[in-house]
Amino acid sequence: MKNPRKEVNAVLRKEAAYFGDIVILPFMDRYELVVLKTIAICEFGIQNVTAAHIMKCDDDTFVRVDTVLKEIDAIPREKSLYMGNLNLLHRPLRNGKWAVTYEEWPEAVYPPYANGPGYVISKDIVNFIISQYNDRKLRLFKMEDVSMGMWVERFNHTVSAVQYSHSWKFCQYGCMDGYFTAHYQSPRQMVCLWDKLSRGRARCCNFR
Ligand SMILES: *[C@@H]1O[C@H](CO)[C@@H](O)[C@H](O)[C@H]1NC(C)=O
Ligand SMILES: *[C@@H]1O[C@H](CO)[C@@H](O)[C@H](O)[C@H]1NC(C)=O
Repeated sequence: MKNPRKEVNAVLRKEAAYFGDIVILPFMDRYELVVLKTIAICEFGIQNVTAAHIMKCDDDTFVRVDTVLKEIDAIPREKSLYMGNLNLLHRPLRNGKWAVTYEEWPEAVYPPYANGPGYVISKDIVNFIISQYNDRKLRLFKMEDVSMGMWVERFNHTVSAVQYSHSWKFCQYGCMDGYFTAHYQSPRQMVCLWDKLSRGRARCCNFR
């Protein structure tokens, strides 16, 4: 997404042109609009690539792709899948910096949802999300991970049963040995994690 500073956008466009692995979306990068990135990831996943599953991560998430693929492979292929670090019966914070108003979320609890730093959904759910979005039937909530939980719940109730697959190894707060994904990782930590992995060890790098 775009930055208020022109120089930042220019540098980003350069990086995107060089590596060809960034899609720049035509709106400002604001927390309330992050959910639109998730929609864009879903669109990309069905329009621009052919994938059986889509994984959403943050840019400070380190992913053991091969291990995550093995986890996915352990689920029967015909099943609709929602995999991640699942939260059940979480409640909105009503005070403080991250407060959610009653207008934004009137309900007392959130649907079951996978933490945003790393989760996987199957393509049938992605198709459902995009078609609902295009028909303007999709409810958008500023927390993208809760939004996803809401859409998957709707799919589960109206289309077909979803396999909810939980693992704490999709770490939300930093890293734990044996992780599938590690979060809040600096570039140096990413290099260090990769280095350890290539020597066969899924160990954390505990420095910044
Ligand atoms: C993805 O595909 C659509 C439809 O073919 C196209 O309009 C769009 O430019 C593509 N996006 C990217 C980032 O390649
Ligand atoms: C998914 O739907 C089934 C019924 O098909 C229901 O029993 C189950 O509780 C639902 N799961 C969630 C997490 O909503």
